[in-house]
Amino acid sequence: MARYYFDHNATTPVSPEVFQAMAPLMTEVYGNPSSIHQFGQEARGVLDEARRSVAGALGAKAEEIVFTSGGTEADNLAIFGAAGHVITTTVEHPAVLQAAAQIPSATFVPVNQCGVVDPEAVRAAIRPDTRLISVMHVNNELGVIQPLAEIARIAQEAGVLMHADGVQALGKILVDVGELGVDLYSVSAHKINGPKGVGALYVRKGTELRPLLYGGPHERKLRAGTENVAGAAGFGRAAKWVREEAAAEVQRQQILRDRLEQGIRARVEGVHVNGGGAARVGNTSNLRFDGIDSEPLLIALDLKGFAVSSGSACSSGATAPSHVLAAIGLTKEQARSSVRFSLGRSNTVAQVDALIDAVVEVVARLRKLAPAYV
Ligand SMILES: Cc1ncc(COP(=O)(O)O)c(C=O)c1O
Repeated sequence: MARYYFDHNATTPVSPEVFQAMAPLMTEVYGNPSSIHQFGQEARGVLDEARRSVAGALGAKAEEIVFTSGGTEADNLAIFGAAGHVITTTVEHPAVLQAAAQIPSATFVPVNQCGVVDPEAVRAAIRPDTRLISVMHVNNELGVIQPLAEIARIAQEAGVLMHADGVQALGKILVDVGELGVDLYSVSAHKINGPKGVGALYVRKGTELRPLLYGGPHERKLRAGTENVAGAAGFGRAAKWVREEAAAEVQRQQILRDRLEQGIRARVEGVHVNGGGAARVGNTSNLRFDGIDSEPLLIALDLKGFAVSSGSACSSGATAPSHVLAAIGLTKEQARSSVRFSLGRSNTVAQVDALIDAVVEVVARLRKLAPAYV
């Protein structure tokens, strides 16, 4: 049976060009970038090139990129590194939400029913001791884009650092840290067809930050530990793809996503687009099916070979409803009837059409079994 992957916001496969870029770094170029001999200098060269490439994808300078073990560490470095009162939102990824929850009196600003935060609500939450505002660029569950530049202006006026979790933005919309006006920006390789376990924090030149890890003077003393050279090289190659090819690919995916949404809504009654009233990235569709429990729907689709998600990957398996769907005002039942489809490079028109047919068939079957739907 063919298997089709529609869960790219959870993770993406490593692309052939990324794999190719990484392979020699496991075997041939194995030096420690801090060593002064040739082996070390070769590895240093690879690391430098990767840093330039990731910086280029963000509109940053190479020396403003700190490699980390992923998006989670980048988020934690921003939040704990700023060391002070933090303002964030209720729809952040747990990497921000749970980190901020460790800081006494952190403020969690609510969002509207589309999942968008009001910049004025952020402004109103600023206190004299506020050090950091952290607002995600693109939401992983809804694909909703936040008014980041506006919030960054407010942060700047108040003399507060601005961090954005851009893990779901890179490769999906144009990212330019200068235009956005952010001081700190988190990214992760495995969402852009790069390897898992490597990410980066953009740290604007002159931004004062405390490290999470102490040890050697790696990464401008912001992240101690021998660098993950192979991972960085893979990230660098994936970032090159973002710079050169993402714009066209994003358009292609948006056409597929719209086809999916329209195809399902034309043939199934009682379907709602969560976050549909807001600006969204082109690959994500979070749909709510009246009277359907997302778990049997997800399992039935999986048996037919389609991988989708009932929220974020971190919360699937757990029965707790998504905090994002709760934050946009959905009831527990509504949240439990929502499914996330997220497209990527491998998806085709034929796959989307097959997915539409599968959803139509499974929803009809489940509704027959569920008297709740009238
Ligand atoms: C918005 C967002 N932030 C942070 C992360 C965490 O990134 P990583 O898996 O690289 O730690 C994810 C990944 O699921 C995400 O979607």
